[in-house]
Amino acid sequence: MSETLFLGRVLSFHRRPEGAHDEAAFTYHEAGAVHVRDGRIVAMGDADDVRKSVYGAHVVDHRPHLILPGFIDMHLHFPQVQVLASWGKDLLDWLNKYTFVEEQRFAEMAHCEAMATGFYDGLLRNGTTTGVAYGSVHATSAEAMFAEAERRGMRMIGGKVMMDCHAPEALLDTAQTGYDESLALIERWHGKGRLSYAITPRFALTSTPEQLEAAGALCALHPECYMQTHVSENLTEIERARELYPDAPDYVGIYERYGLLGARALLGHAIHLEPREIDVIAGTGAKPVFCPTSNLFLGSGLYDDAGLRARGIQGAIATDIGGGTSYSMLQTLNEGYKVLQLRGQQMHPYQAFDWITRGNAEALGLVQEIGTLKAGSVADMVVLDARATPEMTLRADRIETLAEELFLLMIMGDDRAVAQTYVAGAAQKDV
Ligand code: GUN
Ligand code: ZN
Repeated sequence: MSETLFLGRVLSFHRRPEGAHDEAAFTYHEAGAVHVRDGRIVAMGDADDVRKSVYGAHVVDHRPHLILPGFIDMHLHFPQVQVLASWGKDLLDWLNKYTFVEEQRFAEMAHCEAMATGFYDGLLRNGTTTGVAYGSVHATSAEAMFAEAERRGMRMIGGKVMMDCHAPEALLDTAQTGYDESLALIERWHGKGRLSYAITPRFALTSTPEQLEAAGALCALHPECYMQTHVSENLTEIERARELYPDAPDYVGIYERYGLLGARALLGHAIHLEPREIDVIAGTGAKPVFCPTSNLFLGSGLYDDAGLRARGIQGAIATDIGGGTSYSMLQTLNEGYKVLQLRGQQMHPYQAFDWITRGNAEALGLVQEIGTLKAGSVADMVVLDARATPEMTLRADRIETLAEELFLLMIMGDDRAVAQTYVAGAAQKDV
């Protein structure tokens, strides 16, 4: 049995804060501790209280840093680690010029394995302990993605992309092979260790109706799996979706028709939605995923968080590597904050840190396991240092409240502000 007591300023959310004064939405212990036994949290609270029931534990002292649940990245592309920062005009230009070229390299297992190492190193250095990732069309990419996550004991969700038209030949499966390979991957990986499968039709532009039907059949056969795709990211993309599926009422209606929507459906971007599409998302419980660094980088548009929340739709938030420009969920909040500013909406730092931890875990239906520091959760944690750089220190000297500190972290912070990351209680960064 291994017992560890982590000391630091401990912060964990219970629900989405309503705003600046909603301190009942979280637990914060200035002199706090997290007691971890065999990778799970046994207790979290004031250090003096927690210590009373701990005997002979190894003590790790993170004071004066903050200890939070590990970050959750709800949408990113494993085969795009070498696409990130590619110059392009807009989504479709960028996909054709860079992404559809680079993803072809993932046919080779050796390449997938080499990239998987860099991918997870990058996530963990940035404090991200769970990701929901797309592979390439090749089963090898999903194999490597799952195998490396399993080796590291990470809570990962992902799948091989299904795409059978309008892309280079070398990136196409068929309705049948996409179904068969996805099914084999589900049987091999879903529920193994901390892994879950996401059925992954890339988007309506690269799937024939037969393939979307096959994806829908997989969702019906395995309702315990997630489903991830892209929707309404870019205006030209939307026009093209309407041309390809003229009988569908709108873009969301394409996925609706093939039975892809439900509480476990994750819809990347979801920017330019029409009223009927919002009704369908609200009705099915599908989760839009806000990808701010990507939306700004590709010039896609401004996500309407308040508009969706007003309809009871709690979106998730993500990097979208490599359309997104940073592995850091802190930098994702920074850009997200600015996107919402342009919409006349405000993201309070309490809401922001709830979003990348508990909020995203809730969107996955996984709050019992990840996203908080409650007893019983797996000890996936991040340790944050608001004085990680001289410039941050200069600013931090004028800070008085937790909200100010969190805001500094999300605006100026990145991997340098991550002092340590824990997966099931095991340290991931060399310090
Ligand atoms: N739509 C379809 N595929 C992709 C992708 O790889 N990245 C982004 N940002 N949008 C997409
Ligand atoms: Zn994407």
